Amino acid sequence: MEKIIRLNRRHFDDIVNIDICSEHQGDTSNNTSKLEMRKDLISRFDDGYEIFFGFKHDSELIGYVTLKPFFPGYKHCEVYWLAVKKKYQGKGIGTSLMKYVEEYAKSLGFRKICLYTGKDMNLTRKFYEKIGYSFVNEFPGYYGYLTGNTTAVLYAKLL
Ligand SMILES: CC(C)(COP(=O)(O)OP(=O)(O)OC[C@H]1O[C@@H](n2cnc3c(N)ncnc32)[C@H](O)[C@@H]1OP(=O)(O)O)[C@@H](O)C(=O)NCCC(=O)NCCS
Repeated sequence: MEKIIRLNRRHFDDIVNIDICSEHQGDTSNNTSKLEMRKDLISRFDDGYEIFFGFKHDSELIGYVTLKPFFPGYKHCEVYWLAVKKKYQGKGIGTSLMKYVEEYAKSLGFRKICLYTGKDMNLTRKFYEKIGYSFVNEFPGYYGYLTGNTTAVLYAKLL
């Protein structure tokens, strides 16, 4: 059985596991350890800015998306994170999560979703373009890495 559920701290280990198993393409500074991923996620939960949704297949969480309910501009919000475990990629799960979060954002009264991704992440960019996101601008140095995926591209979609 498949369903999308709201996530909280109880799902912490599952979320870290999705991040590890999604094999984020294009980030060649890729020595982010499991420990660093955990630390990063703890601070994201502590900040309290993100609303987490997970895609559950039977009892396994295999993907998640997060929404930050603010972004500069009139009724704009941001999809901050999206990841699907590698072995489940290309099966429509990322699309389902994005559709879900778009409907959720609409229900909160937002009119536009913005998101950043890596300039070099061609598959991911193709994914966003395919589901209706348009390129807005690019930001060299956005990620603060010295090598690899240093430039971010901003995409947006009107809801
Ligand atoms: C990008 C991502 C969330 C897309 O989710 P998904 O479930 O694989 O995507 P869907 O199956 O709904 O859509 C498939 C489309 O996405 C693109 N795509 C992106 N990554 C893909 C992958 N690893 N395998 C297959 N298709 C992929 C293709 O354009 C594909 O279209 P096609 O089948 O016509 O070639 C997922 O691949 C992922 O987690 N990637 C690594 C982490 C990442 O890049 N996160 C986003 C950071 S901003």
